[in-house]
Amino acid sequence: MKVLVIGGGGREHAIVDALSRSPQVEKIYCAPGNAGIARQAECVAIKDTDVERLRDLAVEKGIGLTVVGPEAALAAGVTDVFRAAGLSVFGPTKSATRIESSKDFAKELMRKYDIPTAAFRTFDNYDEASAYVKAGSLPTVLKYDGLAAGKGVVIAETQEQADEALRDMLLDNKFGRGRVVIEEFLTGPEFSFMCFVSGTKVWPMVLAQDHKRAYDGDKGPNTGGMGAYSPLPFITAEDEAYALEHIMKPAAAAMVAEGCPFEGVLYGGLMKTPQGIKVIEFNARFGDPETEVVLPRLKSDIVDIFRAVAEGGDARLEWHDFAALGVVLASKGYPGSYDKGFEIRGLDKVEGAVYHMGTKADGDRIVTAGGRVLFVVGRGATIPEAREAALRDVGRIECDNLFHRTDIGHWALSGK
Ligand code: AMP
Ligand code: GLY
Repeated sequence: MKVLVIGGGGREHAIVDALSRSPQVEKIYCAPGNAGIARQAECVAIKDTDVERLRDLAVEKGIGLTVVGPEAALAAGVTDVFRAAGLSVFGPTKSATRIESSKDFAKELMRKYDIPTAAFRTFDNYDEASAYVKAGSLPTVLKYDGLAAGKGVVIAETQEQADEALRDMLLDNKFGRGRVVIEEFLTGPEFSFMCFVSGTKVWPMVLAQDHKRAYDGDKGPNTGGMGAYSPLPFITAEDEAYALEHIMKPAAAAMVAEGCPFEGVLYGGLMKTPQGIKVIEFNARFGDPETEVVLPRLKSDIVDIFRAVAEGGDARLEWHDFAALGVVLASKGYPGSYDKGFEIRGLDKVEGAVYHMGTKADGDRIVTAGGRVLFVVGRGATIPEAREAALRDVGRIECDNLFHRTDIGHWALSGK
């Protein structure tokens, strides 16, 4: 079978890598891809949101299955357009993608179907929102109701911070015209629970944890994620069963009941609070960088799973026992402004896996082309061994403009 993967980051590189392990796959295309993906797939320069051109490419190349990575492509309706053309596609419809693209939709769904999450209210008026914050307790959490590239969440410690964020979101329309969800501040370790979902059928993946802050010790600004690992020793089998039965399965059933059945990866961003496990957010896709540590642990043929979801049927997931831990190499300055075009050397000396997040070929050289550039994954019998392997490989990569965290996995290692 010929397969098309839409997207061009580390997540898509890990998906391409998993597909390339399947004996059912004859050829992989990726749009737009990147310099690392180009070693395992034929890259086609089409933007992930250019859904009509992507559909035409799939028809022209005789693609048997398309797998969608980024939320922007899903929110642009790529699944609907592919289905209308009779193409097999893995990813939720635009309507089902609202579980990620609209915070308000997701929160109302959780309220209606009793899925545990932070208490909340939605506002479109600045004065009412500000008064609600004043009447409640601090810190409080403000979320812009729409896709804001991870920048739409503000944890306000003071009334002034809350008012400033509310002004940005409701008066100055910094992310566009939208509403704001104000929710209760929760505490506890966060973890990512990704499940393959096909209507009411839910097949859980192994758990992973992302590290959102830029620097060691969870300091510095929020990023798209600076590292991840799997499995998670601080989440018990009971916690996992609770999250599956009380969060992920009810969410899938709720989407069916609401007339927008979910087909694809439902990502639960969950928190283990003193009052039990609660939802921080849902995403309608594979997490990035969680996917890069979860899919290497998948023993089953991923094509069987993608087809079971896209076309209906059953799947069985088997996993390897080893630990996987990955470290992001990011451009200096990220998540703020940064320069690109620095040569990367030493990739051939790496023993584990390197997924490319933001790279470009420049003649024979590979150069940096994004904020997050490479994701270096180590494996081991334990998390410390996996971390050592990852950091050893990081030391083999030479580039003048990259930085990384050295403490990925500290939650697991400190026993918290
Ligand atoms: P989100 O985009 O909804 O995942 O939010 C980004 C980050 O903000 C999360 O990963 C959490 O660390 C934090 N956050 C979001 N909602 C809450 C909440 N209700 N309580 C505490 N922290 C939160
Ligand atoms: N790693 C968080 C996300 O993919 O949204």
